[in-house]
Amino acid sequence: MNGILTAIISYLVGSFSSAYVLGKVLMKKDIRAYGSGNAGTTNAFRVFGKKIGAMTFIFDMLKGMLAVYIGGRIMGYNGEIISGLFVVVGHNWPVFFKFKGGRGIATSFGVLLFLYWPIAIISFVFFVAVVLITRYVSLGSILCAILVPILSITIRKPFDISYFILTVVLAIMAIFRHRDNIKRLIQGKEYKIGQKVK
Ligand code: G3P
Repeated sequence: MNGILTAIISYLVGSFSSAYVLGKVLMKKDIRAYGSGNAGTTNAFRVFGKKIGAMTFIFDMLKGMLAVYIGGRIMGYNGEIISGLFVVVGHNWPVFFKFKGGRGIATSFGVLLFLYWPIAIISFVFFVAVVLITRYVSLGSILCAILVPILSITIRKPFDISYFILTVVLAIMAIFRHRDNIKRLIQGKEYKIGQKVK
């Protein structure tokens, strides 16, 4: 019963779409109608600029941390793992916004930061390096999603099976949510950072 409660609360926390709310309140625009159509940090930077982009990242990351904290309070470590999963599900498919949300990267980062910060930090540095070299945020996100489960096997001591499974599921969701980006990357049509959008 506690597990279901934890999942529902985390899903609702995740469903608070920062990019959508900030865009609507501060710019009177639905971010999902602009740029990549994604309600996340990258598209908020692209469409609304640095200030709203940075706010989106912070809020989405914090909601990941908040959900894991709540899950931990309700049912300990297992609750943290359940929350880590469902807060990202909420972010990607938010109940309040017709299930059209983001790709889960900033929220997953918040979850990972809370659960085991060394892997979050290493992944973040790797992400920044990929983005700076290639100019593709999506490629950084996809490669990070693949890297995190590998790190969870190699550098997390002792090995934790629940954490590993969480990172694999987060990676599968992230890659699934980036399927349009993957098509654009293959076609050479993916947005680069700094590229102007309509
Ligand atoms: O975290 C999302 C990013 O990897 C891609 O976003 O808006 O370029 O599809 P976007």
